[in-house]
Amino acid sequence: MSTHIAAEPGQIAPRVFLPGDPLRARWIAENFLDDAVCYTEVRGMLGFTGTYRGEQVSVQGTGMGQPSASIYVNELISEYDVQQLLRVGSCGALTERLKVRDVVIAQAAATDSSMNTLRFGGYHYPATADFGLLRAAVEAAEAGDVPHLVGTVFSSDSFYHSRPELTQKVVEYGVVAVEMEAAEIYTLAAQHGRQALAVCTVSDHIVTGEETSAQEREQTFGEMITVALDAAIA
Ligand code: ADE
Repeated sequence: MSTHIAAEPGQIAPRVFLPGDPLRARWIAENFLDDAVCYTEVRGMLGFTGTYRGEQVSVQGTGMGQPSASIYVNELISEYDVQQLLRVGSCGALTERLKVRDVVIAQAAATDSSMNTLRFGGYHYPATADFGLLRAAVEAAEAGDVPHLVGTVFSSDSFYHSRPELTQKVVEYGVVAVEMEAAEIYTLAAQHGRQALAVCTVSDHIVTGEETSAQEREQTFGEMITVALDAAIA
């Protein structure tokens, strides 16, 4: 086992889905995977491996924010040789081009986090999705008639922003939604030559103030999981 994941070598599939919420990991395993087995419960951060259309797939909770996601992604890569990392989660819409329940396919992730500032000694880094996964996700969304937008997300260290005008600034440069993990996942994937993509449903609309009910969130979360699963096995 690694420090934070109690799986034996070989128990985790080469492609791993990464919801922040460990209970979402269990929901995905129970509703989308066949023969799912739980391989870790360390710190309640559940992980499962099963199959989707005959292909091995794992789903691992990461917790919220880049420092937490970084721990799990580092260990998935270095200890379990994971090749594909697919964040599945929620985001807040920053543009009226999006409605609540739409799916955002994140082609790139800007960030206010110090993780990359420290990593690159003050230089900035363009954290981008794997193009093959991105294209496959767009094709899956089109095939399933799932309303979606491809765009840049803002991976913030804060859910509650003390300076919302800074978020507004990135919107002026084309950022469409805010979430909290993609930039670090994309950066680690690039560092280690792996593939990463983040696919998020809009749970709240920062411009219009619209929110989703728990039931709506579950339904749209399901559509998004299907898009991401189909992209991963394409
Ligand atoms: N995830 C969902 N909504 C969010 C928001 N408003 N800010 C950051 N992450 C989010």
